[in-house]
Amino acid sequence: MYIVGIDLGGTFFKVGLVDAKDGKIIKKIERETKVHEGRVKVVERMAQAVLEITEGFEYTGVGVGSPGSIDHDRGIVRFSPNFPDWVDFELGGELSSLLNKPVFVENDANAFVLGEKWFGAGKGHEHIVALTLGTGVGGGVISHGVLITGKDGIGTELGHVIVEPNGPLCGCGNYGCLEAIASATAIKRMAIEGQKKFPESEIFKAEEISAKIVFDAARNGDLLGQTIVNRVVNALAIGVANFIHIFNPSIVVVGGGVSRAGDILFTPLREKVKHLVMPSFKGTYEIVQSPLVEDAGILGAASIVLQRKMNQQ
Ligand code: BGC
Ligand code: NA
Ligand code: ZN
Repeated sequence: MYIVGIDLGGTFFKVGLVDAKDGKIIKKIERETKVHEGRVKVVERMAQAVLEITEGFEYTGVGVGSPGSIDHDRGIVRFSPNFPDWVDFELGGELSSLLNKPVFVENDANAFVLGEKWFGAGKGHEHIVALTLGTGVGGGVISHGVLITGKDGIGTELGHVIVEPNGPLCGCGNYGCLEAIASATAIKRMAIEGQKKFPESEIFKAEEISAKIVFDAARNGDLLGQTIVNRVVNALAIGVANFIHIFNPSIVVVGGGVSRAGDILFTPLREKVKHLVMPSFKGTYEIVQSPLVEDAGILGAASIVLQRKMNQQ
């Protein structure tokens, strides 16, 4: 049996054709999301990609991991900080009517943690905290083997915990959220803001400023690069230490584009978290870079189809 998993991000979306028997991704397409073109266009482009990838294959259904607060019973995106016109948007229904297949929607970071549990760093773990650092910052938590979603199904929004009171404005309307400091969007914003104070920074020699450019600069000893990375690490460490105190996970998996920075991010992060957690928590957890990065979202979204199908039977 084949299923389709879609990992919808603020910048790119990825569509994978997954073999349900072993969770292997047979084919994969990545396209630009282009949120600014409006939700109808985005959904049409997603449908087009599904049609292309499934040509010649019989597939059971589509799972979508979408940013934002999702009403998963009805496949509705209720609110999504980086998708301005996606308010009470029937993503599942729209995509399903274009494809004539069942479509199930879950929060993207919740899908990510499911993907990591089944196929990635979370294998064999019953208590997992996952963060995705991309256009936004997403969070997914598995506790006692079960995905935590809360009363309305819209938990866990770990990217919107406040780590800098009176900090920068977040896409959600609050100030000082983890996302407003540790997302790729925030890293780019902080670089641009830093131009006044650090006009000589190598960051401004790049054709286009991105989170990657900032990390590369920091690695080269660039002062602005290091200042930003330090702020990102501090914000993440506060968040992660809090999540460890709340959920007592055996593993914290960090994925998304920003996680590709690797050691320059993870080494100081592990160090800072170690200082912030209570003595009883020391040595109870590990913090790892997602081994699946891109694929966890696709696989997690695909796994939702299997799960919902099982529940329906
Ligand atoms: C949204 C989350 C989402 C995350 C990553 C945040 O802005 O609030 O729902 O998981 O971005 O896409
Ligand atoms: Na989530
Ligand atoms: Zn926020």
